[in-house]
Amino acid sequence: MEGQVTAKGAIELQGVSVQLGGRVVLQEIDLSIPQVRVALVGRNGSGKSTLGRVMKGLIRPENGQVSVHGLDPAARSFEALSVAGYLFQNSDHQILCPSVLEEISFGLRENGWSRAAAEKESLDLMRRHGIGDWGERAVASLSEGQRRLVCLLAILVMTPRALILDEPFTGLDIPTRRRLESFIGRLPQQVVTISHEPDALWQYDRVIWLEEGRLYADGTPDQVLPGFLEAMNSEAEGMDAW
Ligand SMILES: Nc1ncnc2c1ncn2[C@@H]1O[C@H](COP(=O)(O)OP(=O)(O)O)[C@@H](O)[C@H]1O
Ligand SMILES: [Mg+2]
Repeated sequence: MEGQVTAKGAIELQGVSVQLGGRVVLQEIDLSIPQVRVALVGRNGSGKSTLGRVMKGLIRPENGQVSVHGLDPAARSFEALSVAGYLFQNSDHQILCPSVLEEISFGLRENGWSRAAAEKESLDLMRRHGIGDWGERAVASLSEGQRRLVCLLAILVMTPRALILDEPFTGLDIPTRRRLESFIGRLPQQVVTISHEPDALWQYDRVIWLEEGRLYADGTPDQVLPGFLEAMNSEAEGMDAW
């Protein structure tokens, strides 16, 4: 497969199992992911977000080992906390501050940066992404696509080595979606994109398909996506009308 980062720059999971609310949600996942652009697909409830949260360290698995670029993402050190960034499926679950500048500088301030230094760093990043004049805007007044960009910059300002994006394209109109796709395409970091819509994933280095908390298929987009599309379409045909 193309686009390998170094072995040290890999996401590694060994024997990872997770139970939530008494149910097994992930079962014995073994993955070694050195590729730069990786997609995680599967139907609703297959465990994609749970696996993404494990990679971010938001969930510590009952069993198994997780390493992201050589660090345990669930460890309580600044280095470990910032090794991976996680874009929530719903921006509202991520946004904590009223204004754009406060939101983007929040993580740095939490990590002990002075207000002035955090805001300068955030403004530099905002300028590089063409939104240098959004600082005073209320996050609540932004469109969904704009909010997603703010959430992404709030993650990028922490200089993570891996990004986990949970359904980043859902709910966006087509132009906004294309912009976000090309934005993500240009990022230098390793990116794991969770999606159940394969359109944007044909350019990826690797596609991993989850079913009921287990790995079901794993390979290049050409190897995995046609079967995934066929399974999703034939399931729809087998359903009764609403
Ligand atoms: N906090 C939770 N408590 C109990 N069950 C959960 C919790 N979070 C997720 N689940 C269940 O785990 C399964 C996988 O969820 P999730 O990882 O969100 O799947 P996906 O992102 O693929 O839709 C689902 O059946 C879901 O209902
Ligand atoms: Mg999900």
